[in-house]
Amino acid sequence: MPQIIVENITKTYLVDTAPIDAVRSVSMRIEKGDFISIVGHSGSGKTTLLSMIGGITRPSSGKILFEGEDIYELASDRVSEYRCEKIGFMFQFASLLPILTVKENLLLPTVFRPRPAGREAAKAEELLHLVGLTEKINVYPAQLSGGQQRRVAIARAFMNDPALVLADEPTGDLDEETEGDMMRFFKTMNESKGVTFIMVTHNTDLAKQTKQHLRMNQGTLQTV
Ligand SMILES: Nc1ncnc2c1ncn2[C@@H]1O[C@H](COP(=O)(O)OP(=O)(O)OP(=O)(O)O)[C@@H](O)[C@H]1O
Ligand SMILES: [Mg+2]
Repeated sequence: MPQIIVENITKTYLVDTAPIDAVRSVSMRIEKGDFISIVGHSGSGKTTLLSMIGGITRPSSGKILFEGEDIYELASDRVSEYRCEKIGFMFQFASLLPILTVKENLLLPTVFRPRPAGREAAKAEELLHLVGLTEKINVYPAQLSGGQQRRVAIARAFMNDPALVLADEPTGDLDEETEGDMMRFFKTMNESKGVTFIMVTHNTDLAKQTKQHLRMNQGTLQTV
C-alpha cells in the first residue's frame, strides 16, 4: 500500500470575486521513501497542495489517505497528532517565533509530544550541528541572517522524526553552497531513514536531483 494516496483533490477558494480553483483534480500515489520535487509558476497551487497533504487545508473535494486512513475523516485530536507526529513542515517563510531562542524554536514541535527528559535537547543540538549552526543555539531569530533562520526551520522539521517532510521552497534564501549542503542533508535523511520528501522549489537543478520531478501548472500536476 502506498504511504499516501491523493485521490482527485480540488481546492476552490471562495473570494469576493470569482472562485479560484487553486488545485484541480490532482491525484498522486506516494511510496515511503519517495523524494518528489514540484516546480511551477507563482500562484500555480504548490503551497495549497502541500497544505492539503499536511492536514492544514481541507480539500473542497477528493480524499487524502495516509497509511490507508482518510486524514480529513479523523477526529480533530487525531488530525493534530498526524500533523505533529508524522509530518515535518518547512513552510515557505521560515516562521520562527521571535520571542523564543533557536533552541526553544526547535523544541516547540516536541511540546505536544513528550519524550524522556533530556532527549529533546540532545536532538535539538544534534540537528543544529547537522545544519551547521551549533554556535547559535541560544540566540534569538532576529540575531540570525535570513539563511541561518531558514536552516533553523529546516532543523526544526526533523525534531519529531517525521515520516514525511513537506518542504515549501526550503532553500530559497540560501547561497549555492549552503543550498547544496542542505540538499545533501535531505538526501541523507531520505536514504538512511526512509523519510519521504515532497519539496517545492524554483531551482530546476535541485529538482533534477530528486527521484521524481513534477510540475504544477494552473492547479494541475504534470510529470516533467
Ligand atoms: N487562503 C486563500 N484564499 C484565497 N485564495 C488563495 C488562498 N491561498 C492561495 N490562494 C490563491 O490560490 C492560488 C494558488 O496559490 P498558492 O499559494 O498555492 O500558489 P504557489 O504555487 O504556492 O505560488 P508561489 O510560488 O508564489 O508560492 C493563487 O491564485 C492564490 O492567490
Ligand atoms: Mg507557495
